[in-house]
Amino acid sequence: VMVDKGNHRHFMLKEIYEQPTVVGQTLGSYLDPLAETVTVPGLCFDPKALSRITLIACGTSYYAAMIAQYWLEHYAKIPVTVDIASEFRYRQPVMTRGGLSLFISQSGETADTLAALRHCKAEGQITATIVNVAQSTMAREADMVFPTHAGPEIGVASTKAFTCQLAVLAALSIAFGVARGHIDQTEQAALVRVLNEIPSRMSEALQAEQQVASHAADLSRARDVLYLGRGADYPLALEGALKLKEISYIHAEGYAAGEIKHGPIALIDPNVPVIVIAPKGPLFEKTISNMEEVIARGGKVILMSCKEGIASQGRTAGNSIEMPAVHPLASPLVYAIPVQLLAYHTAVLKGTDVDQPRNLAKSVTVE
Ligand code: G6P
Repeated sequence: VMVDKGNHRHFMLKEIYEQPTVVGQTLGSYLDPLAETVTVPGLCFDPKALSRITLIACGTSYYAAMIAQYWLEHYAKIPVTVDIASEFRYRQPVMTRGGLSLFISQSGETADTLAALRHCKAEGQITATIVNVAQSTMAREADMVFPTHAGPEIGVASTKAFTCQLAVLAALSIAFGVARGHIDQTEQAALVRVLNEIPSRMSEALQAEQQVASHAADLSRARDVLYLGRGADYPLALEGALKLKEISYIHAEGYAAGEIKHGPIALIDPNVPVIVIAPKGPLFEKTISNMEEVIARGGKVILMSCKEGIASQGRTAGNSIEMPAVHPLASPLVYAIPVQLLAYHTAVLKGTDVDQPRNLAKSVTVE
């Protein structure tokens, strides 16, 4: 497929900007906005009968899996295990009868994820895959395919494939919750409206690009950067750190905000920027109290939150990034945008090869 950058300087930036459209397309194939229901075409298993879901992936797709664990537990009340494919395949994981093994992969060709899929199939698990490449090996070999409709992703560091994976995982979590009797019709309708509005909220998030870019100079001078989050935004903190490492070559770590006192707080000084992902939601106050611990030790915080969240902390544009107010289910998709843009603008300032970072491959088809 021939794809060009259009008016954008890099494929990565073009792909970041495509997200409202491709997430909308992906959600569109799982939602019926008129009936306000989630519909998963051609399910080959009964969600009521699942004993467990094992989510397996690598890289950014692995962080999508981690986020989905919060959703599947919360909405569908299914036991969930999340695994890195290269670890899973060399352990002796105990698989339960009636388990679903779900493999998440942009390319559908990642060697470790494919090996894990073959292992689970041989173990008698139901296998399914969330893939962006419809003709991929994983799509051919799994019992069921849940496609993402991100279109070809050229930038080596995944962006739009990630948010499309999240869109599918959010829809599945609700569909399974409905099938298992944990979500009634009214709640389903409300959640479908939340999902349906995600593309608009993502467009609003893109409008913060200049504000995000204004923090890139500080980041580009840092040797280490920390990302903190809680709940489903904790894996997003991991993804933020991964994006920054991949394309700007700055060392970054994502941490569960409540865990900083068990290590990373020792790193805090005025030279370590700390990105705090704190949407207004049930865990806001908890995350903010961790932010205060960082500030008390001289840490330089950039707070990502909504207008109300930022104002409640007396912060300004100089030390925050304003996002639209969103439902907790939508926050990892919406906050992915400033996380990606921050890595992007930092890398551009550092002059790295954003679309093809050194030593990395788009698809790792050898072990
Ligand atoms: C490589 C890419 C990442 C991607 C990972 C998993 O490391 O650089 O962006 O997340 O592979 O790829 P997959 O195609 O399985 O999602």
